[in-house]
Amino acid sequence: MRTQVGIVGAGPAGLMLAHLLHLAGIESVVLENRGREYVEKRVRAGVLEHPTVELLRETGLGERLDAQGLPHHGFALRFDGVDHRVALTDLTGREITVYGQQEVVKDLIAARLGAGLAIEFEVTDVSVHDFTSSRPRISYVDAAGVAQTLECDIIAGCDGFHGICRPAVASELSFYERAYPFAWLGVLARAAPSHEELIYTYHDRGFALHSMRSPEITRLYLQVPPDESLDGWSDDRIWDELSARLSADGFTLTTGPILEKSVTPMRSFVVEPMRHGRLFLAGDAAHIVPPTGAKGMNLAIADVRVLASAASAFLREGRTDLLDAYSDTCLRRVWRAEHFSWWMTSMLHRDPAGDPFDHRLQLSQLRYTASSTAALTSLAENYVGLPFGAPS
Ligand code: FAD
Ligand code: DHB
Repeated sequence: MRTQVGIVGAGPAGLMLAHLLHLAGIESVVLENRGREYVEKRVRAGVLEHPTVELLRETGLGERLDAQGLPHHGFALRFDGVDHRVALTDLTGREITVYGQQEVVKDLIAARLGAGLAIEFEVTDVSVHDFTSSRPRISYVDAAGVAQTLECDIIAGCDGFHGICRPAVASELSFYERAYPFAWLGVLARAAPSHEELIYTYHDRGFALHSMRSPEITRLYLQVPPDESLDGWSDDRIWDELSARLSADGFTLTTGPILEKSVTPMRSFVVEPMRHGRLFLAGDAAHIVPPTGAKGMNLAIADVRVLASAASAFLREGRTDLLDAYSDTCLRRVWRAEHFSWWMTSMLHRDPAGDPFDHRLQLSQLRYTASSTAALTSLAENYVGLPFGAPS
C-alpha cells in the first residue's frame, strides 16, 4: 500500500493532522493500535484554548462544539479559602471552551469516516523504517492479522508518550525532563458542577481542581503521591478529601456517583528536534506538560497545524523550507507552554518535601498574581492560548 503521509496514532494529533491534510488535498493513512470505542471513551483533557476552538470551527468541526461546548470567561484561584477570579475575557478579549477531548476525537473520527476515508483501528506490531531515505515505510499487522507495509513520503509520529515513533529515533534526539513528586487522581462524577467556573485550589492538604463537562457532569482532580494506587480511594474518601480542600465560605460541593477514576503521573518532557529525516513527531510523542495549565491537547493541535501546512507545501510544491522549520516553529510554542505549565504546577501544588519557606513563597506568588493586573494578564493570555504564529 502507498500513501502520501503515514500517520501513527489516532489521538487528537493524528486525527487532526489527517483532517487538515484531507482539506489540503493530501492523502494519508491513520494507524491506531486501540479500537474505535476505546479512543472515543478515553477521558482526558477538557479545556480548549481559543486558537484551538477557532481552528476546529474554521475546519468544519464547530457544530457539536458550539452546541455542547461550555464557553468560560474566567476561572478562580482559590487559596486561604477565598476565590480570586482570573477574568480571562476582560483581560484578553478571549475565552476558553470546556469540551471533552473524547468529544473532539469523536468529531474528528466522524469527519474522516464521513468523507469516506478510513482509519485502521486495532493494528499491532507497528514499526517505522527508512525514514532517512525519501521512501519511508511503516510495517504493521492489520486487524485481520495480515502483515502490511505502508510506503509513504512522510511519517507522522502522533502515537503519544508511550508510542513507538520517538523510541525509533531516540539516539538522534536530546531529552529535557522534569519529574514532580505528585500525581493527579481524576474523577468524573454524575453531579452538577458546584460552581459555574473552574476552581484551581491551593490547600495545605494539596492541590484540588473543580472542572466540569456539562450541566450534569463534574470533573474533579486531587493531588496525590506519585504512583498512588486507586485501591485506597473509596468514593467516600474522594468526596471527603475534595470537600476538605475545596472548602470556602458559601461553597458546597455537590456530590454524586463517580463514573470514572484514574491516576495520572505528572511530568515535563521535551525532545529536540521534533524531526529526524522524514519522521516528524507531534503532540505527546514529542512533549508532555503537567496538566495544571491545560495545554497538552492544545499543543498537539498546534503542532499538527504547522505540520499539515509544511507537508502540503512539500507534497504540492516541492518546498522543503517549512518542513525544515517544523521543529523550531513548534518548539517555540512548546517551551512557552512548558514554562507556563511548570509555573502553574509549582505555584499550586504542595511539595511533600517543601518547608514553610516554600509555602510562604507560593502564597506570596498567589497573592501577587491575584492582585496585580499585569500578573493576571500574563496568566490569562497564556491560559487562553497565544495566537498561532505569535512571537513567544
Ligand atoms: P494521544 O492522545 O496519547 O494519542 C496517541 C494515540 O496513539 C493513542 O490513540 C494511542 O492509542 C495511539 N498509539 C500509541 N502507540 C501506538 C502504536 N504503537 N501504534 C498505533 N497507535 C498507537 N490537555 C489539554 O490541552 N487540556 C486539558 O485540560 C488537559 N487535561 C488533561 C488531564 C489529564 C488527566 C490528562 C491525562 C491529560 C490532559 N491533557 C490536557 C493532555 C492531553 O490529554 C494530551 O496532551 C493529548 O491526548 C495529546 O494528544 P496526542 O494525540 O498527542 O496523543
Ligand atoms: C481540566 C483538565 C486540566 O488539566 C485543567 O487544567 C483544567 C481542566 C479538565 O479535565 O476539565
